[in-house]
Amino acid sequence: MLYMGVRLMNQAPATLAREFRHALDPAAFASERLGVIPDPWQERVLQSSSRRLLLNCTRQSGKSTTTAILATHTALYQPGALILMISRAHRQSMELFGKCSGFLKQADARLAIDNAMSCTLANGSRVISLPGDNPDTLRGYSAPSLVIFDEAAFALDAVFMAVRPMLAVSNGRLALLSTPHGKRGFFYDAWHSKTETWQRERIPAEQCPRISAEFLSTERATIGEYWFSQEYGCEFVETNDQLFREDAIERAFSHAPDPLFA
Ligand SMILES: Nc1ncnc2c1ncn2[C@@H]1O[C@H](COP(=O)(O)OP(=O)(O)OP(=O)(O)O)[C@@H](O)[C@H]1O
Ligand SMILES: [Mg+2]
Repeated sequence: MLYMGVRLMNQAPATLAREFRHALDPAAFASERLGVIPDPWQERVLQSSSRRLLLNCTRQSGKSTTTAILATHTALYQPGALILMISRAHRQSMELFGKCSGFLKQADARLAIDNAMSCTLANGSRVISLPGDNPDTLRGYSAPSLVIFDEAAFALDAVFMAVRPMLAVSNGRLALLSTPHGKRGFFYDAWHSKTETWQRERIPAEQCPRISAEFLSTERATIGEYWFSQEYGCEFVETNDQLFREDAIERAFSHAPDPLFA
């Protein structure tokens, strides 16, 4: 707030009012500053105060865009924030960083681009985009304000385990976004967890206003039910390299074993 105060000294009241509205409402920031009118679920995510966000949304629904906006807003309005964006591999990290740095420039942030995957703002915030293919390269960052896991269902559990402790001290926010990829992994576990408090958003393709019914019916016929239900239906199905069905594995375990000794 102090940084904002210094930056806004001598500004017209209308500019001040706009700046405060944008600081308090990331959805208004998205539409008025970045030109992205959020879909209803995107608005819920952007206006959420939840520390844990789970986005199980169809391909091309705007998951990466929404969280890039969240990263941009956090970097701008929380001076000194560290934002980590973790993607599947190097190319996707560059892509997501490009989205975020594009938004930062659009919002007129004063920033220095450090390299193809990180930048530092004049207010001390940093946005760092990292490939999630090696847990060792993720260690060493401390107290992030926001961690974004793009395509989380495809990431290694070891990578998630390397990142989780970073949030302990900062009480930072964590956003996992993906389409499902089998009944396994930390994204699947989080989606079904009854103990962790997540804000869950599930948006199958028919709820995305930019995906037509004709496109979907062609896709269903072309890629088949297995892929279609995951990519567009947000459904967790057994992976095609899984030897046994999930329900068969579940039935093989007894949850009420008889004692070995009386
Ligand atoms: N609210 C919106 N209004 C208009 N266009 C949008 C909106 N949200 C996202 N888009 C556009 O939709 C396209 C897909 O967005 P994005 O890449 O964020 O989706 P995604 O869910 O991450 O897709 P994928 O699963 O393929 O990674 C982009 O061209 C993006 O600009
Ligand atoms: Mg994406």
